[in-house]
Amino acid sequence: MKPVRVKPVRTVTSLAFAFERTAVHERGSDSHYEDPSYYAATYADRTADLDYYLGLACEVDVPVLEYGCGNGRIALPLAHAGVRVTGVDRSRPMLDDLRRQLRRAPAGVRERVRLRQGDMRAVRFRERFGLVLCTFNTFLHLYTRADVERYLARVTSHLARGGKFVVDVSVPSAAELARSPSRTYRVRPFRHAGTGEVVRYGERFDYDPMTQVLKVDMMFESRDRPRHKWVTPLCHRQFFPQELEALFHYNGLTVVDVHPDFTREPVTPDARTLVYHAKLRGGPRR
Ligand SMILES: C[S@@+](CC[C@H](N)C(=O)[O-])C[C@H]1O[C@@H](n2cnc3c(N)ncnc32)[C@H](O)[C@@H]1O
Repeated sequence: MKPVRVKPVRTVTSLAFAFERTAVHERGSDSHYEDPSYYAATYADRTADLDYYLGLACEVDVPVLEYGCGNGRIALPLAHAGVRVTGVDRSRPMLDDLRRQLRRAPAGVRERVRLRQGDMRAVRFRERFGLVLCTFNTFLHLYTRADVERYLARVTSHLARGGKFVVDVSVPSAAELARSPSRTYRVRPFRHAGTGEVVRYGERFDYDPMTQVLKVDMMFESRDRPRHKWVTPLCHRQFFPQELEALFHYNGLTVVDVHPDFTREPVTPDARTLVYHAKLRGGPRR
């Protein structure tokens, strides 16, 4: 029988260029947190997650490690409620703002809060925690698989046996990711909490389906000084639910519960945010 000639299949040897953390990601990870007063005013009405984390921390009553504590929107009320909190964040302006708030807080609250400026993929503590939190989409600042692996290695090394890692992330929305990057989504002018000026504001969304990173450009223009305008970029990696569960699984964690939108209800397809509760798979890691 004549041998069958098989045509060699062309293989793609490297897609690495598409999956590296870039300078755009770094800017999109930091810029939104350079003005803590604007940040605090923008999210002042966001209370469902705070109530959820307060309930959870008081229920388990153990010291908490919060990654991405920012300027303390969650860490500070936890400390006021009697919880010991260790906060990690890489933004100096956010941590300086939290330190300012702590200086005005009662001594007991100050004593319950310990802060560390650093990257959550690298910061190490000697102890383990019964509750490790990664709040308000902080996880979406992990853009690559290497980012996720480095970070989850830190999580598993800081999680006590029987302890919980709880992380909330927005669910990617097909309709929102399909928005045209050339369209600006505007809202009514408002007074900017940081500068005090009335600003015109719009957002542009640019989703890269290869890296799964959504870049949001927040565009500000002073109403009274039209040439005074600036853009704040924010980059969020999009994690699809099954992908995130797999990343936890292959990095030493088991998802034990998922809650939608900071409720204890069953998950439905229209959930906007998922809160994952995960535990160590097997014993604690070294
Ligand atoms: C959306 S804010 C959440 C702040 C606060 N937990 C809250 O709920 O308001 C995300 C925080 O994660 C921090 N962050 C982003 N990437 C980080 C990293 N690689 N390591 C440590 N902190 C990071 C930012 O500086 C920012 O303060």
